[in-house]
Amino acid sequence: MQGKRIMLIVGGGIAAYKALELVRLIRGAGASVRAILTRAGAEFVTPLSLSSLTGDKVYTDLFSLTDEAEMGHIELSRDADLLVVAPATANLMAKMASGIADDLATTALLATDKPVLCAPAMNVRMWQHAATQRNLATLKADGVSFVGPDEGEMACGEYGPGRLAEPAAILEAIREQFASASKTRSLAGKRVLITAGPTHEPIDPVRYIANRSSGKQGYAIAAAAAAAGAEVVLVAGPVALPDPAGVVTIHVESAREMLAAVEEALPADAGIFTAAVADWRPDNEGTQKIKKEKGKRPPDLALAENPDILATVAAGKNRPGLVVGFAAETEKVVEHATAKRTRKKADWIVANDVSPATGVMGGDRNTVHLITADGVDNWPTLSKAEVAQRLVERLADALAGKSEKNRIGA
Ligand code: CTP
Repeated sequence: MQGKRIMLIVGGGIAAYKALELVRLIRGAGASVRAILTRAGAEFVTPLSLSSLTGDKVYTDLFSLTDEAEMGHIELSRDADLLVVAPATANLMAKMASGIADDLATTALLATDKPVLCAPAMNVRMWQHAATQRNLATLKADGVSFVGPDEGEMACGEYGPGRLAEPAAILEAIREQFASASKTRSLAGKRVLITAGPTHEPIDPVRYIANRSSGKQGYAIAAAAAAAGAEVVLVAGPVALPDPAGVVTIHVESAREMLAAVEEALPADAGIFTAAVADWRPDNEGTQKIKKEKGKRPPDLALAENPDILATVAAGKNRPGLVVGFAAETEKVVEHATAKRTRKKADWIVANDVSPATGVMGGDRNTVHLITADGVDNWPTLSKAEVAQRLVERLADALAGKSEKNRIGA
């Protein structure tokens, strides 16, 4: 942590006094601290006690003209390596989750381009309230990290989760944040293109053919690649998932739209094709809703083959340096996937068994086999987020030239 600069935002709450101890610990670990004290925070600790511990002036008000002249709030929010909110009150979390910027603390939080770590502290009921839990989920999805709250007796006499994490635990979370940031910037400067989700193939303006893909695995890979510093373009079919933070997400419906969006997004250093693209589409898409007519037999559904996006890109002139396909199989998983790797000219195939009994389709866990030119790597059953993390690590090694032999090339 030597030389790191931390912006500590102290919210209002009985636990605010612990922020003083936190400042002492952070400085002891070799980092510097600059503090913003909210108006409510100043009811619990004084600017003077904070500034004597940080050894710097304490910023308290958005509209202080001298602060604006010395350092604008935007600059203030970016002049740190990490923003730590401790204590993060229910009110601060709510404002952060909805992007409200009505004082210096919330303006700095909205304007920053740096990672944010929150240490919540509040009454048990406030913590458990659906609104706070919703804000927590939103902030996590936005990439905010959390430490605590701890469980125990509260100042208000109630018992449960809501106590500010101990300053030593917050310091540990700060250390982890820096450690993982240096480890996970492994894809910095790389452009990664990912397809995800099912496609919808229109029969007429109101009906379509689809499949059971949830898009979860592709979205997890997009999030992991973005967290590793990659510039990520995610081309997604219709899914019920929020766009991952820090990813350019392009929404499409049909296979042909997906191919067009992918070609538009090329070139890329790596292409990861997780989408469950429909192999066929209705041949003659009706321009009007097909009517049911009494006494007439149901319409025949003639099918036409869709373009194979992976195979088209892998054989195209804009082929990414590393092409990764997925193979969803219900039998002879490795055998079929190995053949698919050669047939589609992919460098790697991530194969999985999607038989209904596995619960993979739509579920949160996945058991995959990574098939490369070197052979088959059997991974244990992992969460889709863990599969994504592992894949991103392999990808970073390959793009850094550490496993060139894995690649068959164009
Ligand atoms: N794929 C694609 N475009 C298609 C079909 C598949 O890009 N029209 C990609 C998928 O995203 C995946 C890989 O090809 O990365 C394999 O998909 P899969 O559905 O398992 O293969 P199919 O081509 O459908 O082969 P099969 O019918 O033999 O299972």
